[in-house]
Amino acid sequence: MMGGDPLLSGFESPTEFGFETRAIRAGQPHDQRTGGVVTPISMSTTFAQDSPGVPKNGYEYSRTGNPTRHAYEACVASLEGAKYGFAFASGLSAEDALFRQLTPGSQILLGNDAYGGTFRLIDSVHGKKSGLANTAVDLTQPEQIKEAWTPESRMVWLETPTNPMLSVFDIRAISDVVHELGGVVVVDNTFATPYLQQPLDLGADVVVHSATKYIGGHSDVVGGFVATNNESLAEDLVYIQNAVGAIPSPFDCYLALRGVKTLPVRMDRHCENAQQIVAVLNDHDAVSQVLYPGMKEHPGHEIAAKQMKNFGGMVSFRLKGGQSAAERVVTNTEVFTLAESLGAVESLIEHPGVMTHLSVAGSALEVPDDLVRISVGIESVSDLVSDLVQALDHAG
Ligand SMILES: Cc1ncc(COP(=O)(O)O)c(C=O)c1O
Repeated sequence: MMGGDPLLSGFESPTEFGFETRAIRAGQPHDQRTGGVVTPISMSTTFAQDSPGVPKNGYEYSRTGNPTRHAYEACVASLEGAKYGFAFASGLSAEDALFRQLTPGSQILLGNDAYGGTFRLIDSVHGKKSGLANTAVDLTQPEQIKEAWTPESRMVWLETPTNPMLSVFDIRAISDVVHELGGVVVVDNTFATPYLQQPLDLGADVVVHSATKYIGGHSDVVGGFVATNNESLAEDLVYIQNAVGAIPSPFDCYLALRGVKTLPVRMDRHCENAQQIVAVLNDHDAVSQVLYPGMKEHPGHEIAAKQMKNFGGMVSFRLKGGQSAAERVVTNTEVFTLAESLGAVESLIEHPGVMTHLSVAGSALEVPDDLVRISVGIESVSDLVSDLVQALDHAG
């Protein structure tokens, strides 16, 4: 137990083991009673107490703490190099917990490309209803943070690579500027995952995830995660996690924990397949621009090469034929499924302007209408390539 809050316990991260070992074992001792090697799904909502207020095994009520959730929290915290990890019912509820610990009137500086739902949460829910201000900043120029910073500024929020434009921001340079100003840096690490990028090591204060994506990895669980080494923030988060109650079910935690075991092998294949697809897209006449940080021509390539182990499975591209061409491409694939979300074993394709990023229309974060985003899965890459090529032939 840490600090003054009895709910807050820091995880000892077994850093002597490699990433792949921790993905499978961290936080998951063999079941004490049966020797089972898989963490049980602990469905009990309440736990026996020895005397009033003194739980037998540290657990009292499942919203407050649950053994399956704790195993999952310990595992992902370990992968992010964090002492504290908190699982939430969705990526947005994880983000919401971070916004809730800001006092009304605080300002958030936001990278000028981000998931539409994040912008909606900051701008419409916390902005209009709880008095948080937000300003979009071009974070490719970290010095611009100083110009946008006001006495009310508290937090810089960034994705890297971003959704859906695949921009890359220098986490170390941004953290240096923000720390000089006395602020906190939050990195949404959903696209990169801790396997490819560890923001806390690069100076960020907090990592957030939509665990619905690569962490779960199979399109069968919605979840969110926050990891940090900052004890006072962790105290706020554990309080909010329990007081608000946006927690994942034990079954959701089991699914995410099962998914994360294969994160390294899945990510290797996502990256390999994406690189081959990028080469094909670059050669296709219907495509005007490919956005992928692994390309030397990408403006963020050098930063990505420095702060990421590989370049990920997300690719966006723009079509010469505009919005109608984009619509024709996304409706003509067979192996790629036209659907929202990303980061799972199956390949998905979407049109961000009218799907995932509709909520940023008219804002500084608006996305081009000729943009297509693909989440490259781990199927046979030859099938993915021929599917995309035949769909691009419909671009007109
Ligand atoms: C980068 C990013 N962050 C956060 C979220 C929100 O996560 P969730 O859908 O799990 O609430 C998403 C969802 O697509 C996302 O892509």
